[in-house]
Amino acid sequence: LRSAYLTRIADAADAPALEEVRLAALGKKGEISGKMKELGKMSPEERQTTGAALNRVRDEIDAALRARREGLENAALDARLAAEWLDVTLPGRPRRQGSIHPVSQVMEEVTEIFADMGFAVAEGPQVESDWFNFDALNIPPEHPARQEHDTFFMARAEGDDRPPHVLRTHTSPVQVRAMLDQGAPVRVIAPGRVYRMDMDQTHTPMFHQVEGMAIGKDISMANLKWTLEEFCRAFFEVDNVELRFRASHFPFTEPSAEVDIRCSWEGGKLTIGEGESWLEILGSGMMHPKVLRAGGIDPDQWQGFAFGMGIDRIAMLKYGIPDLRAFFESDLRWLRHYGFAA
Ligand code: PHE
Repeated sequence: LRSAYLTRIADAADAPALEEVRLAALGKKGEISGKMKELGKMSPEERQTTGAALNRVRDEIDAALRARREGLENAALDARLAAEWLDVTLPGRPRRQGSIHPVSQVMEEVTEIFADMGFAVAEGPQVESDWFNFDALNIPPEHPARQEHDTFFMARAEGDDRPPHVLRTHTSPVQVRAMLDQGAPVRVIAPGRVYRMDMDQTHTPMFHQVEGMAIGKDISMANLKWTLEEFCRAFFEVDNVELRFRASHFPFTEPSAEVDIRCSWEGGKLTIGEGESWLEILGSGMMHPKVLRAGGIDPDQWQGFAFGMGIDRIAMLKYGIPDLRAFFESDLRWLRHYGFAA
């Protein structure tokens, strides 16, 4: 009896097989248990010897069961360790690193340069009211400049009596918002997205501008010129920046000037600061009295300059990128080519 069970225990290949042996021997209906129950029918002497013998066998089987269970568990653990081992000395698998989009990088840079000159950042909504985008900037409803802006108009449900809204066509409405928010004196830039229905090599329907505005008691064109030269020196990283102020017209500035930067196109390569070519980089001027008034500022006491610059455009110039549309196509090969992604 004893050796038969010990053999079965030794042969049990896994936990369920072992449990089967345990039930057969020591379970309520097991063989040993059965024999224990028969003790009651025996004579006292017989009971004593048989009982003691049965107890021994039971204890022995029990011990063997425990030992075998432990053995099986150890074997299972060994098998797992062998199957799941990990070589911590292997080099890691490389992962591509993300990076900041070139336009965002340039926006950061521009913001930092102007921050050094004391300009804070102001913001306005991209879905802008018609009043801020046009009227407040001296562009009344019938003004031809409205057509030139290729405006996206927000659809309106019937019965919607809120004022008409557009996707802002420039960052200039932020001039008015900043004046109403902060009063004078004030010095801010407003970088952000703007929208016009236009698409070719140098135009995308969404693009970025940075507006600049400084209002004080005696702000003049001279301050505008120095500010822009200082900016260009820092941004294009050249000492000999030369700007040309070309008389122009914007409804919200008087006088107005478009600003060109001296450059050369040698063999298709653009160099800023030298050469015989001029490249337009921004629009600017002295703020129109009507615009100051729309911002709640008295034009008899205050005057200011303003400018608006295409961020994507100056990014193209700085990095020698010929096609603006590529900025917004999210093509990793293109980003890597210009060193904007790993
Ligand atoms: N808002 C003008 C544009 O988008 C640029 C500009 C800004 C001109 C401020 C003068 C002053 O073209």
